[in-house]
Amino acid sequence: MFEPGPAPAELIRIKRDGGVHDPEAIRAVVRGITDQSWADSQVGAWAMAVLLRGLNAQERRDLTLAMAQSGRVMDWRGAPGLRGPILDKHSTGGVGDKVSLIVAPLVAACGGVVPMISGRGLGHTGGTLDKLESLAGFGVHPTEAVLQACLREAGCAIIGTGPDLAPADRRLYAIRDVTATVESLDLITASILSKKLAAGLQALVMDVKVGSGAVMPELAGAQALARSLVEVAAAVGLPTRALITDMGQVLGRTAGHALEVQEALEVLAGTACEPRLLELCMLQAAHLLVMGGLQPNLDAARAVVRTALDSGAAAERFARMVALQGGPRDVLRDAQLPRAPHTVAVWPSGLRQGRVRSIDVRAVGLALLHIGGGRARPGDVIDPRVGLTGVLGVGEVFSADRPLAQLHAASAEQARKAAAQVAAAFDCVDEAVKVAVPPLVPAVLHPGQGQGEGNASAPS
Ligand code: URA
Repeated sequence: MFEPGPAPAELIRIKRDGGVHDPEAIRAVVRGITDQSWADSQVGAWAMAVLLRGLNAQERRDLTLAMAQSGRVMDWRGAPGLRGPILDKHSTGGVGDKVSLIVAPLVAACGGVVPMISGRGLGHTGGTLDKLESLAGFGVHPTEAVLQACLREAGCAIIGTGPDLAPADRRLYAIRDVTATVESLDLITASILSKKLAAGLQALVMDVKVGSGAVMPELAGAQALARSLVEVAAAVGLPTRALITDMGQVLGRTAGHALEVQEALEVLAGTACEPRLLELCMLQAAHLLVMGGLQPNLDAARAVVRTALDSGAAAERFARMVALQGGPRDVLRDAQLPRAPHTVAVWPSGLRQGRVRSIDVRAVGLALLHIGGGRARPGDVIDPRVGLTGVLGVGEVFSADRPLAQLHAASAEQARKAAAQVAAAFDCVDEAVKVAVPPLVPAVLHPGQGQGEGNASAPS
């Protein structure tokens, strides 16, 4: 006889009252989300109950697995021409974070295969897909044949999730977004890892941001999220390391879509190397090579990564990927990136000399969002031209010929307004004042490790 599953209201009540869901209950929730038999209101109520009451380790694992299996699970074994381990990285989001654009081809040039599933920006944080779309013609939803060709010939592809990949997450995330339940650590963990599991990865590096531009601004919150990601990933069989990295300043010298693609191209070509950006790219790539079994330890991996950059091999992989995904045919020679017509220098009010003490990075991201450099709501149209170049970091000195940044905008009026907002986000002091620069990587978490080791370059 047909056994109906538990009623939605009953499952919501159990979680509301602090009860524990067994694996079948979790599967029933995910089924209800996926097949739409649960109403939006019921999904929202359940998400709120989870946010308030939490999930235990077993529930988090069960939710992650059930969401990963709610749609297609990619299986790369036996795919013709793919010869490396399937690797990926994922960042919790920030301002100026163009690391994915560099790490995907870098790892590909060192023997990995990177089917990178990326997201769009929302709020003050940028999205990799939006950045790549500033390259004319670049398609983030390639056909299966194009995706396979990219992975075979470039070793990497950067794509968006299709409707068939973790569909439970797609619906749950949209409902969380409008029910103030995005912040649940349990739901963030299941959301991120379910998509990575569905992508058929063999190893993952998580970049968990901390600081004023991060979703988790405090170290304790970032550490809790990193620990949750590493532990759940280990429990579901996806080897994962988490790097907790500083988002207390813009990463690299640029923020804004086309401007970040330009900076990524310069890093790949060896003509720009803002040290923190370069270090983070090398570190993430090195961890992936070790986890994928391509290199024995981090020192060896860093040497290989350096060679892939210096030889132009990584740049070549990026160019191949861009051409195969429909972008410019020779992006290294002519990227055809759009440029904003107005540029103004950003100065702190009344000051022409001093040192940057701290930056409200979220406010910088929001200033760009207000002039079209981001989305306040899904579906908002982005202006890929707007953003910042030459952005100074914490501890750096500005002077008469070196402003805090250059602001690029569609009109003189927007440039002036946004420049004032960006300037207000910088806290500046006299040049003689000593300023402590936060470490780039305060901690690295490995599977089975309860806490960070705090040494970015320690061999694995
Ligand atoms: N990124 C995701 O994919 N999901 C979340 O819940 C948060 C960030």
